[in-house]
This record gives sequence, C-alpha cells and structure tokens, in this order.
Amino acid sequence: MKISDVAEDIDRELVTRAQIDAKIEEVARQVSQDYAGRDVLLVGVLKGAVNTLVALSQAMSINAQMDFVSLSSYGSGTSSSGTVTMRQDLSTDVRGRNVLVVEDIIDSGLTLEWLVNELRRRGAASVEVFALFDKPARHKTELHPKYQGIVIPDEFVVGFGLDYAEKYRNLDSVAILKPSVYSKEAK
Ligand code: IMP
Ligand code: MG
Repeated sequence: MKISDVAEDIDRELVTRAQIDAKIEEVARQVSQDYAGRDVLLVGVLKGAVNTLVALSQAMSINAQMDFVSLSSYGSGTSSSGTVTMRQDLSTDVRGRNVLVVEDIIDSGLTLEWLVNELRRRGAASVEVFALFDKPARHKTELHPKYQGIVIPDEFVVGFGLDYAEKYRNLDSVAILKPSVYSKEAK
C-alpha cells in the first residue's frame, strides 16, 4: 500500500522508502561483516519488525537464521510501562547463540530492554539490537543499540510494520497520520 492509497488519512510522509532501504542496506553490510564466520540468529519482534527483518535478511551476504517473539507490554494508552509478558515465545533455544534482535522502533526502550535481559538470562552468547526507527526524546532506559536506526522526532508514525490500531502496517513508507484519524477512532 502506498501513501496515495490512504492520502485522506495521512498528514505527511516522514521517511521515504528510499531512506528506509538505504538504512537497512547500510546495517546489513555492517551485520554481514560483524558476524562473518559465525552463526547469527535474527529475532524479530512481532508484528512490527516483520518488514524490517525480511528486508535486512535479504540484504545480508551471510546466512541468517530467523525466529520470532510476540510481546505485550502493559501501560496506559500508547506508552509501555516496562511490564512485559511473552505472548508467543521463540521456538529456538538461544543458549550459546549470537542473537540480533530486530525491532521496528524504540520509544521508551522498555520492551527491548526487557527482551535483551531475558535473552541474556537464557544464556545467549551475545545479544545485539537493530531497531529501524528511534525516538531518543522518549527513551526511559540506557539502551544503546549497536545498529542505530533512523532517528525521528517525537511523533506517532505508521507504516513499514508500524501500526495504529492494527492498520497501516502494510504501508510501504513511514508517515504521520492526521489528527482526525485518532478522533474518529475515539468516537
Ligand atoms: P517501547 O517499549 O516504549 O520502546 O515500545 C516500543 C513499541 O511501541 C514498538 O515496538 C511499537 O510497537 C510501539 N510504538 C512506539 N512508537 C510507535 C509509533 O510511533 N508508531 C507505532 N507504534 C509505536
Ligand atoms: Mg512492536
């Protein structure tokens, strides 16, 4: 789906598909170098990270295994509290594995911090993070991803995996919604 398909809901495009592709290709090159000669397990956080994980893995020049985890974080409205539970666990034993967590966006960072700690607790040999987008203004943790994504302002965005009420995930770039979309939903 393209911006023009949902033009009436979109305020403006924030990140173009070309910018997304360039970032993912840059990170894929770095990851392929860093993990050369080692096994890497990409762990995607469902559902938002699916687009990024697919694109990243295809842009890599080394073998990558893949697994997925679904997390729910409880908090008020749109912000997470840091209380995280696993809705769906990995099917892989991460003991001794080099894990690269792939996420859509870092907002407070609480969800990722929890997941990184959990993977370490399970005995992963290494745990690194790539989140495609990052909102530094909203961080509540000291999480510093090894693979830095695209820094965006403190705005709620949709597209390339990111949703509002499960919509717009299949938009092929990233945009800011019109305020009327939220007020429609509230009625
Ligand atoms: P955190 O624990 O606060 O970092 O929560 C991160 C999660 O919140 C992401 O994986 C997204 O699912 C969701 N999220 C944060 N910001 C946005 C946004 O701007 N649009 C859509 N989802 C978001
Ligand atoms: Mg998410």
